[in-house]
Amino acid sequence: MTENGPVIEIRGLTKNYGDVVGIKDLDLNIHRGEIMGFLGPNGAGKTTTIRTCLDLLQKTSGEVRIFGLDSHHDSIEIRRRIGYLPGDFGMYNDLPVRTILRYLLSLSGYEDDGPMEELARRFALDLDKRYGSLSKGNRQKAGIVQAFMAGQELIIMDEPTAGLDPLMQQEFYEFLREERAEGKTIFMSSHILAEVEEVCDRVAIIRDAELQVVERIDALKEKMGKTLEIEFDKEIDPSVFDIRGVEGLEVDGRRARMIIACDLDQVVKRVSEHNIVNMSLETFSLDQFFMTYYSRPGGG
Ligand SMILES: Nc1ncnc2c1ncn2[C@@H]1O[C@H](COP(=O)(O)OP(=O)(O)OP(=O)(O)O)[C@@H](O)[C@H]1O
Ligand SMILES: [Mg+2]
Repeated sequence: MTENGPVIEIRGLTKNYGDVVGIKDLDLNIHRGEIMGFLGPNGAGKTTTIRTCLDLLQKTSGEVRIFGLDSHHDSIEIRRRIGYLPGDFGMYNDLPVRTILRYLLSLSGYEDDGPMEELARRFALDLDKRYGSLSKGNRQKAGIVQAFMAGQELIIMDEPTAGLDPLMQQEFYEFLREERAEGKTIFMSSHILAEVEEVCDRVAIIRDAELQVVERIDALKEKMGKTLEIEFDKEIDPSVFDIRGVEGLEVDGRRARMIIACDLDQVVKRVSEHNIVNMSLETFSLDQFFMTYYSRPGGG
């Protein structure tokens, strides 16, 4: 196995459901020790990607390697080494949660149920309750405990915080950071933009079956910076904005619009040689950036 290579390596992955394209020609690497967020509108292809990677769905074409192993031929070995929380997690309704989790733990060949008990305490999950009697959020917690209880090095989760209250979400993020500090690799889909911003190292955004962006969160934050719009009293030469850190410049006659990824002072000093009629500065949040992929076809 490739110790330094990506933990998950996806190449040209395509999954069609008959005539419906689930995902198209997806390339994505997930590295050891990172938390990768997976964003995209409903029906974009997140669950399809996850399930195809785990060989729970048969791919149409392409290749997935996990721990350097082939996702199809070595699927049993791979599954043994992965914690997985499906989006539609469900268990036997009539049994106590502890009984079910212990059973699942034994299936994966692990005996020590200490971590399971500890996780349940941490997330305030009552293991004595019948699964069927749990609220939605508590069922989700059972799913989370299930995904982490065997201490696997790679955890793949489809919308892990769906149904968790804000306090539990925060507890979960803290837990994820601790897991990362221990070298775990986490790949998780989400619809909570703030969650991806807060907890993930990188984000992959998918829309209409195709990957749109893969970027580091801190790099995105830096890039987001501020949007500056200036209106001058006459037409402006775009070369005025020839400044390092001024990006995405759009000049239309007397108006200029740009993203400021440098010291604002530099820009202000440069434009002050010209007559300014109007000026506005808007801080662009990562949320807004993410949203463009939800609302604007072909955006980004
Ligand atoms: N079993 C299936 N049969 C046919 N089409 C499917 C099937 N499962 C998914 N699809 C289609 O594949 C595309 C991707 O769906 P997928 O469930 O992967 O999206 P998603 O990003 O997980 O969405 P959500 O955010 O709603 O969970 C959609 O067009 C969907 O209708
Ligand atoms: Mg889904």
